[in-house]
Amino acid sequence: MENLEEKIAGASSLEDLEKVRIEIFGKKGALAAEFAKLKDVPGPEKKAFAEGLNRRKAQLQALFDARKETLAAEALERTMRSEALDVSLYSGLGEKGALHPVRETMDRIIDYFVALNFAVESGPMVEDDFHNFEALNLPKHHPARDMQDTFYFADGTLLRTHTSPVQIRTMLRQKPPIRMIAPGAVFRRDYDLTHTPMFHQVEGLVVEEGDKVSFANLKWILTDFLHEMFGEVEVRFRPSFFPFTEPSAEVDISCIFCGGEGCRVCSRTGWLEVLGCGVVDPNVFKAVGYEGVSGYAFGLGVERFAMLLHRIPDLRSLFEGDIRLLEQFR
Ligand code: PHE
Repeated sequence: MENLEEKIAGASSLEDLEKVRIEIFGKKGALAAEFAKLKDVPGPEKKAFAEGLNRRKAQLQALFDARKETLAAEALERTMRSEALDVSLYSGLGEKGALHPVRETMDRIIDYFVALNFAVESGPMVEDDFHNFEALNLPKHHPARDMQDTFYFADGTLLRTHTSPVQIRTMLRQKPPIRMIAPGAVFRRDYDLTHTPMFHQVEGLVVEEGDKVSFANLKWILTDFLHEMFGEVEVRFRPSFFPFTEPSAEVDISCIFCGGEGCRVCSRTGWLEVLGCGVVDPNVFKAVGYEGVSGYAFGLGVERFAMLLHRIPDLRSLFEGDIRLLEQFR
């Protein structure tokens, strides 16, 4: 018999070893050939011959089993190594998104007023004439309605042109005192560098019993708010007109691009208009059935704030959904 032990030890894979198994232990294998010689062994030696052969067979079997175990372990090790997944490897997937600059700016505005105990109110975007105009001291055919190019539906309802109708809805629902803001989308027929048909406003309204609320309160809070948003800017209240406030003002900040020197963004005036506001007109209180109260209101365009804070030159780019714009705000 050739060196069967060497054959077992020399098998380098489980497939190899299987061939060796057939060669040694198979029906036509080396051991079978040895056992076949038993019949030619003379009688008295048969027992010793058979015993020797069985011992050899058992030794080979033990060697074979050990080798098989080793090769199987090696094979498993190889598979595990080749299929391994390095979970510590940076995949480049799952990049973080970011808030849209309009959302982020709106959140900053809301945070300021919520910290001062203002409630956050909302109302429908499809409004009726009463809440959007009439109750805000804008009777039919009032020339000031032309200030707001309105989208109308066939049934006479409309897309709200400002967040001021939320003032009306809140006052109709609640009794004073009221201290609220109303953030939300508004709609006007406008489209150019600084106007889109949909944009966002934040409305503010404060109402108290008696004559507690004055223009001075309004001036203080808006000045503080604008300093919070834009840093150390000059704030200027410029007389203006809104049908729902009297007196009314538009609020300017010194241009944050040129520091008031005069540049293209501020049309060389040194000032940027950022807010409309005023003391609530008595006719508005009459429309909601309030008596003996005083209040102030203000409204601002969120996109305008976002454009100034982030130096975005074209308002329309905020709504084109171009990922390259959004990536800059991560
Ligand atoms: N509603 C006004 C606008 O859309 C803004 C405003 C609100 C002005 C409240 C005064 C008071 O232009």
